[in-house]
Amino acid sequence: MKIGIPKETRPNETRVAATPETVRKFKGLGLEVLVESASGAAAHFPDADYVAAGASIVSAREALAADIVLKVQRPTEAEAGQLTRGAMLAAILAPYADRPMVASFAAQGVNAFAMEFMPRITRAQTMDVLSSQSNLAGYKAVIDAAALFGRAFPMMMTAAGTIAAARVLVMGVGVAGLQAIATARRLGAIVSATDVRLATKEQVQSLGATFVAVEDEETRQAETAGGYAKEMSEGYRKKQAALIAETIRKQDIVITTALIPGRPAPVLVTEDMLRSMKPGSILIDLAAEQGGNCPLTRAGETVDIGGVRIVGAVNLAGRLAADASALYARNLFNFVSPLIDKATKGLKIDWNDDIIKGTCLTRDGEVIHPALKA
Ligand code: NAI
Repeated sequence: MKIGIPKETRPNETRVAATPETVRKFKGLGLEVLVESASGAAAHFPDADYVAAGASIVSAREALAADIVLKVQRPTEAEAGQLTRGAMLAAILAPYADRPMVASFAAQGVNAFAMEFMPRITRAQTMDVLSSQSNLAGYKAVIDAAALFGRAFPMMMTAAGTIAAARVLVMGVGVAGLQAIATARRLGAIVSATDVRLATKEQVQSLGATFVAVEDEETRQAETAGGYAKEMSEGYRKKQAALIAETIRKQDIVITTALIPGRPAPVLVTEDMLRSMKPGSILIDLAAEQGGNCPLTRAGETVDIGGVRIVGAVNLAGRLAADASALYARNLFNFVSPLIDKATKGLKIDWNDDIIKGTCLTRDGEVIHPALKA
């Protein structure tokens, strides 16, 4: 059986779905690994290293025609057209952004798995691409903010006087938010954070940051069984906005990461709040691709509003291409390897497994995921 690793072709995508390390592991399972030439170049994994690990370097066409195709982002239409009937595809498929793509996988008989739909259960932690990539994005958001900021992060007492520590507010304390808090603390900032899920309060405090949030009956139920946030009521959002308006004026850096699965990102920083920030302050919006946590955010751009810069962060993990690829490739290996039958070296999928049910979009010509069925 062949595993294909095509080179990513979407703009600014630097990551790759397999590294020499995971190629070696797939070879160890008895699979043939076909890596498109220069797939790992942007992440600094040269073809020679893949060859040394046992891969064959092939064309895009050969990689896309494999029995199992592993990608980072969803294939383009031209790429999808080259997948073969019965093939398995695993990638961050963003199916809500491209429903016709899902229908075409079904029509082509491709069994497609969306890695970002991985259930948040203990057994699946090693396959959780949202966690592995968000963690890096949270770190990079703070590093980018520090690079743009015209002041220092830590308090410094010098002979020429004292420099005050930077104040950082992290909004949304999921995986990215927690890493942003930890990184900002390491750099010496005074950090506060907010989330609608009260479970995050203790996590925020354990990282040495201050928790700022409206705590009421609604927040006690703001978390779904899966650990995600629910969309909050109009009343709650008003109370939350008043508290944030008061806090945000005093901040130098704001990092927003708030997301609600399958919905546009909630607006947390209104135009008025943004305009109340001091000139020189920075907002890094990690929710930019889902519409942004600020209405002035432009995905992929940095806009200056009266001296406050808003960075519409896109694929921050991709800017740490080597680490992001290494973790993503391991996530994929951990997902695929239990599906390989040791005796036959072919695919043997338990369609009743929660991990499969959670991630599989199309099977044997049909769209089967409950969230995407017509
Ligand atoms: P996410 O990327 O979906 O959202 C980021 C954060 O935004 C969340 O903490 C969410 O509560 C918050 N948020 C949503 N609306 C908000 C609002 N109006 N105001 C302020 N904050 C708002 O979240 P992520 O990072 O994917 O984590 C979700 C949960 O999954 C967390 O509880 C995390 O600890 C858990 N998790 C569990 C894993 C496992 O057990 N395998 C692995 C990874 C995460």
